[in-house]
Formats: sequence, C-alpha cells, structure tokens
Amino acid sequence: MNIQYLRGKSFHAARGFLHHLLEEIPDFTRIDNELISCISIPGKETAMPVLPESVYWTRNVWEAPFLLEFDSISEAARALKAIQRNWAPYPVHYSRRTMLIADALPPLPAKPKQFPFTLPEAPMGAFTLLDEHQLLGSARCSSPFPNGEFSFIEDKEGPPSRAYQKLWEALVLAGRMPTPGERCIDAGACPGGWTWALASLGASVTAIDRAPLDEKVAAMEHVTFLKHDAFTLKPSDLGPADWVFSDVICYPEALYRWISQWLESGLAKNFICTIKMQGPSYDRTTTRLFAAISGSRVVHLWHNKHELTWMLLSGA
Ligand SMILES: C[S@@+](CC[C@H](N)C(=O)[O-])C[C@H]1O[C@@H](n2cnc3c(N)ncnc32)[C@H](O)[C@@H]1O
Repeated sequence: MNIQYLRGKSFHAARGFLHHLLEEIPDFTRIDNELISCISIPGKETAMPVLPESVYWTRNVWEAPFLLEFDSISEAARALKAIQRNWAPYPVHYSRRTMLIADALPPLPAKPKQFPFTLPEAPMGAFTLLDEHQLLGSARCSSPFPNGEFSFIEDKEGPPSRAYQKLWEALVLAGRMPTPGERCIDAGACPGGWTWALASLGASVTAIDRAPLDEKVAAMEHVTFLKHDAFTLKPSDLGPADWVFSDVICYPEALYRWISQWLESGLAKNFICTIKMQGPSYDRTTTRLFAAISGSRVVHLWHNKHELTWMLLSGA
C-alpha cells in the first residue's frame, strides 16, 4: 500500500453542468465522468496544468488529492479509515469495487436535514477508483456533504413554491440569517417561497414582483407586497434594508446594475441573489463582475438549477 499526495485539485461538476465547468477549466490532467482533475501525475511533473482562477459550476472541490495504491478492498478501506471517518464514494470506473470499499467504511449521514442547522464540522472526504488497484481521493473537500449533496425536510404546507430550499441552503452556508425585526427586500418574490421562508424567521419582508404574491404568503405577519418592476425601484425608493434578496428571472447584467445601485447607496447590509443564466449559455463576464465585488462569493448551491448564487455578508 502506498499513498502519494499530489499537487492541484479535482473539481466535481454541479449536477448537469459539466459543460459549464469545462468552459472554466479548459486545461486539465484527466476527466473521470464529471470529475475534472488538474493534478500532478507522478513521474510527469511537467504535465501539471495551471489551476483555473474562477471556478463556480462545482458541487464539490477535492482540495488535497492523493493516489492510493492498494491490493484489496479491505486494505483500501483500512487506509481511508486511518485518515478520517467520512468518505463519499464517487463510482466511475470499477463502480462495484468502489461501492464495496464504501460498504467497508463507516456509514455517511443520509437523512434529510431540518432547517436551520449549522454546517457539519467533521471533514468529508471523497474517492474514486482510477483502476482496480489505484484510488484517487481527497480527505479535504469544499463541501461538508457527501459529493456536495444533501436534502432538507420539506415543508409541504406553507411555501407556495420549492424555491425556498435554495434560500435555506444559502442561509445555512452564510451561517447567519435574518432575525425578527430585520428588514428584508425580496425582489422577484412570486409566488412567495422566499418571502414565506423569511417571514417564517420573523423578519419583515417587502416582497416585490410584477406578478401577484400567493394570498396566504401576502397575509403573513410583517409581509408587504409591492406589485412593481423591481429594477425601476431605486434603493432610495425602498429605504434601508438589512438584507436584499433577489430571485428575479432576468439577464445577469440587469441584476448587476441594480445591485451596483444598492452598493453605491450603502443602504443595505447583506445580499443573497440568484444569478440566473438565460438560455443554455453561461454569462461568465457578469459572473466575474459579481465575484469581484469585495468580500462576496459566487457558488453553485446543491439546490440551484441553471443559476449561481451570489452572496455578500456584512463584515465578511
Ligand atoms: C423564479 S421566480 C421567483 C420565485 C420566488 N423566489 C419564490 O420563492 O417563490 C422569478 C420571479 O421573478 C419575477 N420577475 C421577473 N422580472 C421581474 C422584475 N423586473 N421585477 C420584479 N419581478 C420580476 C417573475 O414574475 C417571477 O415571479
């Protein structure tokens, strides 16, 4: 048995968006289904590709990849367990053998999670087999969930749409959330999943949309509905906000222009916005503009579709 740590990283594509990740990582060492590796290959140091600077369409990044040479399934499992408890299998080649190794490891948390919760602190590793006796793994990964994947215990009664789940995920990732009495602007609010989630936290919500808000959500305490084009409302029209949210379906530039007004005004403290891609393509230029806003980050959440989430938290 032999472990060799590698330079570089491996990037596991967001579900269904390998093509966007390939745009971001044109130069790589190997690709195993949806796992793109920019790693040093032992004995071929010159083949190490330049690590990409801005990568967003991932579900998980393998931060510290290694190669493990092993003889048997039990030996591979023993070697992984000696490093840490949690390992998510990513079966690509030798899928059955991969899963037999996984079966010999401690079980992973798989139950849907109750919102809110704090991000697990225990490291979650990942591994895949490159051949019968060689495993690529990483003990450190960007996501604390197995292959970036998890689910919430759903509320099937309250929210009028399932979009609230991506807001929940963003708030869990942010590690903070609107508190009772804080003022939220929710642009593109209809039918009202996000507004429902925010009002359920006790925050006061100004929901804005050109379409009507679900009646039950509109009737919630501390919810005010403005039937309006959000982008023709200036920050000074809306006043100070603790949080600005947007899930508006629009071209990313339109959202960027509106958010720029908020940033210039200094009237908002925290932002969580969905950058929705229009058509099949990916607006990298505007995504990079968002990512360049100081202190902010752009991610693809597990509950995101053809969209990215931009967040800026005060004091971050
Ligand atoms: C994906 S839906 C939002 C879903 C919502 N977050 C929820 O949880 O139910 C996008 C919304 O953006 C709204 N929208 C599109 N352009 C808009 C604009 N310029 N101003 C306000 N709302 C807009 C649409 O009417 C639509 O209701």
